[in-house]
Amino acid sequence: MQTVPHLIERFIPKHYQLSLTLDRADRHFAGIVTLSGTLPPGADTIILHSKELVVESVTLDGKAADFASSDNDELHITHRDLLPGKHIIVIAYSATITDAMHGLYSCYYEHNGVKKELLATQFESHHAREVFPCIDEPEAKATFDVTLTTEPAITVLGNMPIKTQTTENELLVTTFETTPRMSTYLLAWVTGELHRKTATTNQGVEVNVWATPAQAASSLDFALDIAVRSIEFYEEYFDTPYPLPKSDHVALPDFSSGAMENWGLVTYREIALLADTHTSIGSRQYIATVIAHELAHQWFGNLVTMKWWNNLWLNESFATLMEYIAVEALHPEWNIWLDFATNESIMALRRDSIDGVQSVQTDVNHPDEINSLFDGAIVYAKGARLLRMLQHYVGDAAFQAGLKHYFNDFAYSNTEADDLWQSIARASGKDIVALMNTWISQPGFPVVHVTQQNETVSLSQEQFFVGPHQPSSALWPIPLSSSDPAMPELLTEKSITAKRPGTSSLRFNVGDSAHFITHYDEAQLAQLISELSLGLMSPVDRVQLLDEATLLARGGIMQTVQLIDLIKAYRDETSEPVWTIIAIALAELRKFIEDDPLAEEKLRTFTAEIASTQYARLGWTQRPDETEDDTKLRSTIIAMELYGENQDAIKTAQSMFAASKLEDLDSELRPLIIGATVRYGDDNIVSELLARYGNSQSGELRQDICAGITSTRQPDKIAELLETIKNPAIIRPQDAALWFVYLIRSREGRDQSWQWIRNNWQWVVDSFGGDKSYADYPRYSAGALTTRRQLQEYSGFFTPMKDVPALSRVIAMGISEIEGRVELIERDGPAVRDALRSL
Ligand code: BES
Ligand code: ZN
Repeated sequence: MQTVPHLIERFIPKHYQLSLTLDRADRHFAGIVTLSGTLPPGADTIILHSKELVVESVTLDGKAADFASSDNDELHITHRDLLPGKHIIVIAYSATITDAMHGLYSCYYEHNGVKKELLATQFESHHAREVFPCIDEPEAKATFDVTLTTEPAITVLGNMPIKTQTTENELLVTTFETTPRMSTYLLAWVTGELHRKTATTNQGVEVNVWATPAQAASSLDFALDIAVRSIEFYEEYFDTPYPLPKSDHVALPDFSSGAMENWGLVTYREIALLADTHTSIGSRQYIATVIAHELAHQWFGNLVTMKWWNNLWLNESFATLMEYIAVEALHPEWNIWLDFATNESIMALRRDSIDGVQSVQTDVNHPDEINSLFDGAIVYAKGARLLRMLQHYVGDAAFQAGLKHYFNDFAYSNTEADDLWQSIARASGKDIVALMNTWISQPGFPVVHVTQQNETVSLSQEQFFVGPHQPSSALWPIPLSSSDPAMPELLTEKSITAKRPGTSSLRFNVGDSAHFITHYDEAQLAQLISELSLGLMSPVDRVQLLDEATLLARGGIMQTVQLIDLIKAYRDETSEPVWTIIAIALAELRKFIEDDPLAEEKLRTFTAEIASTQYARLGWTQRPDETEDDTKLRSTIIAMELYGENQDAIKTAQSMFAASKLEDLDSELRPLIIGATVRYGDDNIVSELLARYGNSQSGELRQDICAGITSTRQPDKIAELLETIKNPAIIRPQDAALWFVYLIRSREGRDQSWQWIRNNWQWVVDSFGGDKSYADYPRYSAGALTTRRQLQEYSGFFTPMKDVPALSRVIAMGISEIEGRVELIERDGPAVRDALRSL
């Protein structure tokens, strides 16, 4: 892809005065922008970004100027008197309000039977240019005065508090206070009927949580508490005040990603912000982490911003790390770091083991490429793991002190990764620049092989791969975090030996704080398993041992059949996150038995049997005094019983479904209850539930129906669901990818979904071609397909698209991923099936 010029090099904006008149009924808006800035020596044209704006007139220092649109969304402004120096440009223009979920767009909802709309903006990464002419680059920071003219009697929100609000000609004119120096991608407005809950932080920052009137007032309370306490937490942790006078959080009915950190006006999809008494613990934890993530950006990203999009990972990795640091402080009883191990770690390791994966830091020549490099498993999860590794390596105190320097030195300006490394190096006295740069610039991660003979331990590292790959000689500086202080702090060589008296157990990456996996020799593994059985391992170590074993099996370093005995050693487990990984490891076995009914039956029985002790302990009903861990665990266990086709479990689910309204079902179990009823019961339920889905204003209920209903085994119902994905009156475009992923991951839905996505590819292109979710379709397909025939079909279908920038990497990785899976099934399948049959 070609490299776009950085316009900041040719014009330096200082202040924008922006006045917009929004005509919602006509789907149209008109704007006047007054921009002051400096033309550097040597330039004779002012070039701004402008996309799909109809420019009516331009004046330069009060004189009519010439203007013309050009490639790369450029608007060229010239005047025969134009000289380098300070200038004021005034542009009058107009544009369309769209449904695109970027730029300025409409959100739809229904309240008391009346259809209503909100208007909202989404500017990251480069959509501000769709709303006003500007230098739309993160480095082009400026101050903004915004005035919005709208319909009367609605709420009008911007980044800053309202300065004046008047009614003129029956229209509402709202002017906001001037913003601090900030990037265009962080500007935002929301207008429409909204209600709120409000509170103030201990330092006097006003915090509001907003939603449409279709949402209950009580659904705002949880978010408000988390938002207030997150801001208070960060002010202490960063030792830097929250930079603005207020912090608004708005739940939008249509929203393309999860949430967006607009400065002072964070926007969310409804399920990422709203919680009522029915909301499951998992959803609350999700909401808390999303809020903590976006609020971390208010400092890291908003106050201090990357110079260019190649360092977007730094924004996102940091905010992902802070989600866990903040939520651990706000809700210590959740043990959220265990979820880091079951979410981020697993995602990062699985993706990062496929050849062709991107490095954390990747060049961005054109902001359009951002969509193509948005591999969340790398940009968020791996990056967060690397920052956590850094935090452990230098210690939390030095990490925090480094951040304080960083915010202090770079407030209201822009940085690159090295600026952060240097701030932390200065605070810690450790030379981390080269170390971190190696980790962020090399794709993949190492496996450390460990063997011990007598008193000599040998350690060696090599890049870990799953599936076909080129040979690699990459090496990493690996912080070993060994249980034995006789081991070195860093492994930088290919291989070393170390003296170690005794043969007590030996562990590496204790606490799972670095990004590598360990391959122990047989004796050591046996020792670890016996420690596990004796209850001597911490929960995070138990998660890590099983997760790394499934990876090593995928990579051919262990055999998949070994997982069966390892899983047996977890029988007495009681911790929810550890059960999550047990369930994942058991699910890993499912792909091996699809054509072997006896082995499949045995796997189902084995799954139910492994979970049976916890099933007996927990039952179906919450006890008033139980821990949240147990409440969450119940659904993991019941899901295993249902997979195991435990008749008692199936009947209980069906009778619960019959006995109450959907809204009143236990929200922890609701998707399972719906799923079991759909799967083992009356098919008519599918259409009824789909209708309920289309009418519901509750994002959580909709999500549960989607999760449950996609368990159907009936081909005609699967076909009906697939076709409904294209019907925006029932399934909002924001949720299309979710439906697709559930269907293609289901055993019975896989083939049909795969056929459907190929038949409907043009619809995917038309609907999501410019969106971050575009690449999700080939990505999710590759995650689900298992046979040689499907591998050929995948490669045949997608290879012709491999030059589409947003798809090329995903397609190449998709082919390796399926090929790796097919080979794994061929290699390990016979032994797995034999072992299961003889269980
Ligand atoms: N800034 C991102 C969203 C974004 C990134 C929008 C790039 C457009 C281009 C935001 O902070 C974010 O990361 N949102 C996540 C949720 C988060 C809690 C992981 C998302 O939307 O998935
Ligand atoms: Zn983010």
